[in-house]
Formats: sequence, C-alpha cells, structure tokens
Amino acid sequence: MKTTLLTAIVATSLVSATALAASHSHSAAESTQTLEKFDAKPVLADLQDLIALNIPVLSKDATTNVGYAVLTPKMQAALQARSHSLGKCAGFEDLTKELGSDVKSLTSSSANQILSSLQAHKKANDLYKVAPFAPLAVEKSAQIDSALNEVKTENIQANIEWLSAFPTRDNRASEPNIHVVEMEKRLKEMLKDSSLPYEVDLIAHDQTSQKSVRVRLIGKDRPNEIIVLGGHLDSINHSWGGGDKAPGADDNASGSSDLIEALRVVMSKPQPARTVEFFWYAGEESGLLGSAEIASTYKSENKNVIAVMQLDMTLFAGSGEFVIGNMTDFTSAWLHDYFKAVNTTYLHAQVVDDKCGYGCSDHASWHRQGYPALMPFEATMKNMNHNIHTSRDVISATSNFRHSTVFAKLAVVFAMDLANSELHQPYM
Ligand code: BES
Ligand code: ZN
Repeated sequence: MKTTLLTAIVATSLVSATALAASHSHSAAESTQTLEKFDAKPVLADLQDLIALNIPVLSKDATTNVGYAVLTPKMQAALQARSHSLGKCAGFEDLTKELGSDVKSLTSSSANQILSSLQAHKKANDLYKVAPFAPLAVEKSAQIDSALNEVKTENIQANIEWLSAFPTRDNRASEPNIHVVEMEKRLKEMLKDSSLPYEVDLIAHDQTSQKSVRVRLIGKDRPNEIIVLGGHLDSINHSWGGGDKAPGADDNASGSSDLIEALRVVMSKPQPARTVEFFWYAGEESGLLGSAEIASTYKSENKNVIAVMQLDMTLFAGSGEFVIGNMTDFTSAWLHDYFKAVNTTYLHAQVVDDKCGYGCSDHASWHRQGYPALMPFEATMKNMNHNIHTSRDVISATSNFRHSTVFAKLAVVFAMDLANSELHQPYM
C-alpha cells in the first residue's frame, strides 16, 4: 500500500517536473542526463521552493520551512533552474546515505525524525535570542592582532589562481580527485615546518568517489573540544554539456584559499587549547555530500564540536568592500553574536544579516546534527556573484582579494581566540 502510494506520487510528479524543467531550462535538464546517475533521491529542501515547483512534499516542517521530498534528476534541474532565474539558492541535502536509495520503500515518516530535530535546533536557538545573556565581547590580544597582520592577500590570490586553473573540481567528473590529491600534497608540504601536533587525512565517502581533506591541529588542553573551519573544494558548471569548465574561482576556490592561508598563519603559533580542524569538503554542489557524511559520523561518534564556520564565496564584494552577509537561518545565534564581537574587536567590517534557505552550503550539514554553525558570506544574497556555476566564475576585474582576506582573518580569530577560550553555545 505504502509502496503503491509513493510510486504514484513519484510518477505524477515526474510529469509536472519534466514540463517545468523544459520550460525553465532545456540545457539544464539535458546536462543532468549526461552527468547524474541517480533515478531519484530523498532530500531536504526549502519548502516554498518544493511547493512552487509542484514537487510532492512527503513531509514538512512549517517552523523551519523545510520539506522532505524524493527528487528525480529533472526535478533537481528544475529546482536549480528556478533558483537561478530568481537569483537565489536552491539548496538541498541529499539524504540517500541516511535513508537509503530504495525510494519506493521511503515513507513520509522516514524523515519525520530529521525534521523534528531541525525544529528542536530552531527552538533552542530562539531561546538564546530571547534569554537575557550578557552581551558577548571579545578582548583584544596583541598576539592575535599580530597574527592577523601575517595574513597575506597575495597568498590568497595565488591559492585562488591555482585552484581555479583546474578544468573542473566536480565530484561527478571522471577523475574527481586530481585537485584533491594536489591539495593534500600542498598542505603536507606547508605543514612540515610546523612544530604543532597535526594530522592530514583524505576522507572517503559512500555517496561520491570524491574525497574530502581534513587537517587537524590537535588541542593541548581540551583536545576533545573541536573548532571546525570548512569550505567546499568542489566546483560545478550547471550548463556542462561535456566540455565546459568549472573554474569556481569565487565558488569556492575563494573560501578554500582563505582556509589555506589561515592554516599557514595558525600553524606557526602556540598550540591551541582546543583542537582546530580544517575541512575542504567533497561534493557540496551535488547536495552537501561530503559534509553531510562527516557531520553525521561526528555526531554518531559523539564528538564535541563547539563551533563550525563555513566559508563559501568570499571574493565578490557585491554589497561593497568589507560588507559581509551573515546568514541567520540554520546557523547559531550565539555564533552570530560571537562573530559580531570579533568584528568589533578585530575586523571592522560591516556585517549585514540575511538568509540563504535550507542547505545553501555545508554549514547546514552540521546544523542538522545539532552543532552550532556560522556562515559569513561575500555579500547579501541579492548582491551575490551571478557568474557562479558557469565557466565565467574566474578571476576577473571584479575579484576583490582584499575583501576575501577579511574572511581568512576571521578564520584565524576562530583558531586563536575561540580555540583558546571556554566559550560554547548555551542551552545545549
Ligand atoms: N556557494 C553556493 C551557495 C550560495 C550561493 C550561498 C549564494 C549563499 C549565496 C553553493 O555552492 C551552492 O551552489 N549551493 C546550492 C545548493 C547545493 C546543495 C546544490 C544552492 O544553494 O543553490
Ligand atoms: Zn559554493
């Protein structure tokens, strides 16, 4: 009975999504046929997007505005085509690993637990916002201030030039790990001069053959308390018809490069009290694949992740130089406060709150597992770089390396201030 019902839903929606995909973007629908190898997959996505596209919502949570649906490749293409035409995100998180790929056996209740955990995180976060906490202030340290002066814009530029020169970093490419292996080599070469205890790993995944890269700087006093700094290393070209390049200079060679530069500075400093982990995730553009597996593994191993910062797109100063968008949905209000305090003390940028919808980047994977996350962004959503996901996402006259540098500095403060403090999310 359940099976028949779901088959019927999937079959019906196929018709509407095919029509939509055809009317919105013919090439997007074609390109998914070339590259995507799935028939249908369970996902979480923005509820309004699913409704607007007539994609059957199997389960939903109105408080977080997240829906659970089974997506066919054409529905996915329709979702992306629509968001592109509206200049917004079409985030989704692939739940295949958690729920299985046998979509016929999935029911609305499969995702209910996931949706209610999202609701619980939102409630805890809302509680923080109304509770009378003493305002967070970050005290200036001379050591951190001088470390911030070591963050070099030229290095960030060189890193972005290097990463955006790979023809593609797509996780679905026939050889999806060429740049990953090069990245590991570079990091090892850089870290060999460090006197800190560290580990460099490639992390294999179930849902993609692309690997994620992790560098751990092991904490001196409280090694089990972890500060995560991450960004996705993969890129995508949505109009890929076989040969088009996916340079992904802004999305996300920029955030990836800020993290390399932050690591370079931090590795020469005294060992932090807490462990600091740097991640360069696989397959974000295909549904947060790498980060979703990592965050769920961390949760199942009961790891104590104190804070997660995601850097995804830092190169295009669309709202003005040093204007930073702070995504307030599916992130932690405590970390928003911490970020603003850090900004007042060290960065002196202008922080503007905004939202990007469910699953716009890897922070959503951590948030869903209940870990506090922060997502600072190059601009407000409406001023974002519209060349992403095309062969035009290259270094150009509009690339602002000084702007990108602020994000690397923020990462340094996370690694040197938060990783040496006792601060943590209240109400956990
Ligand atoms: N870097 C983008 C996300 C982004 C764009 C965040 C604009 C904030 C503003 C990211 O790599 C991306 O394209 N995400 C997709 C979702 C993904 C799961 C396919 C998106 O948001 O459409
Ligand atoms: Zn991105």
